[in-house]
Amino acid sequence: MDQSLWISVLLGQLCFCVCQDHKYRFISEPKSWTEAQEFCRRRYIDLVTVNNMSDLQALRAAVDGQPDAWIGLYLTSEIRKWHWSQPELTYSYPKPDVWWAGRPKDELVRNCGVLTSKNTWYDTLCDTQDEAGFVCYNKSSNDVFKIDLMYDWLDSQLYCRTHHTDLLSGLTQYQQFITKYPTRIYGFRMGLFRDSWGWSDGSNSSFRNMKTEVNPQTKKCAALTSDGRWASEDCGLEKPFICYGEASVRVTLHNLAQDVPLKRVVLWRGLLQSASLKPQRKRQKHGAVGYLVAGAAALSQQNHMGKV
Ligand SMILES: *[C@@H]1O[C@H](CO)[C@@H](O)[C@H](O)[C@H]1NC(C)=O
Ligand SMILES: *[C@@H]1O[C@H](CO)[C@@H](O)[C@H](O)[C@H]1NC(C)=O
Ligand SMILES: *[C@@H]1O[C@H](CO)[C@@H](O)[C@H](O)[C@H]1NC(C)=O
Repeated sequence: MDQSLWISVLLGQLCFCVCQDHKYRFISEPKSWTEAQEFCRRRYIDLVTVNNMSDLQALRAAVDGQPDAWIGLYLTSEIRKWHWSQPELTYSYPKPDVWWAGRPKDELVRNCGVLTSKNTWYDTLCDTQDEAGFVCYNKSSNDVFKIDLMYDWLDSQLYCRTHHTDLLSGLTQYQQFITKYPTRIYGFRMGLFRDSWGWSDGSNSSFRNMKTEVNPQTKKCAALTSDGRWASEDCGLEKPFICYGEASVRVTLHNLAQDVPLKRVVLWRGLLQSASLKPQRKRQKHGAVGYLVAGAAALSQQNHMGKV
């Protein structure tokens, strides 16, 4: 049987990049971050991505108090990008410009935003306690609150996420703030920050929950700690880790020539990652992602591994 086979994988069962699969897998065998990434990609989908606070709560419940495990966040070599602390808001350069003239500057240490007394934005240090306070946003009351505590940026974020929703983010909340507090003398921290972290699965989620400032020289990978905040660590350290995704997927085998379904099988996920299976985007139909299998050898392997 020397024919190509066409395998379609139903979305929802595979959740291939398009939708997130929230099956978290805690793997207790310690590995370095890179080995953990390889393991997750072979067996499941990838190291876990955390998109928001509710994801984080689900993740913590799933790992049930197991401390200190790698997640998919790592320091990329890309240039730093500005983000809002509220991950559903995307930063774009404000129009009209509300940055203080000449800011932000490309200085390595200035990665957090403050609201100045003139209601402009200024890029400042994240780890100092010399700002007058910070501004929280409360989603339930759709209101902003000026908090007069001289916290560094990470502790300001923790405070807002604990007592309200998050640090002030986005232009709408900024407008709410300057309306509610038209006269101020000092600077207040807000949810603007700049970093070059990225997720292993390529997701662009800007959600962060760090507990320590990043040391870009040595600590380039992020681990979940027992209190739910994340530490940046040396990627070579061996730690338990968390993958996401299903271990097996249900697929339909098609005969390419006639394009008719042959049989439905359950495949071990890792097989789909093997080199002979290349996603064929053009062949997507009925919500399916297509895979072209080189030949009969692949089929017999699948028959071997699959259950009808
Ligand atoms: C959090 O992110 C997930 C995707 O990971 C999404 O399904 C969910 O709606 C988000 N929740 C909130 C409250 O934004
Ligand atoms: C992330 O990607 C989605 C589409 O994949 C896009 O809609 C969204 O604006 C992006 N967010 C950021 C912060 O770039
Ligand atoms: C802010 O929101 C929280 C829930 O996130 C709520 O419990 C609290 O009462 C709110 N505070 C104010 C001052 O509105």
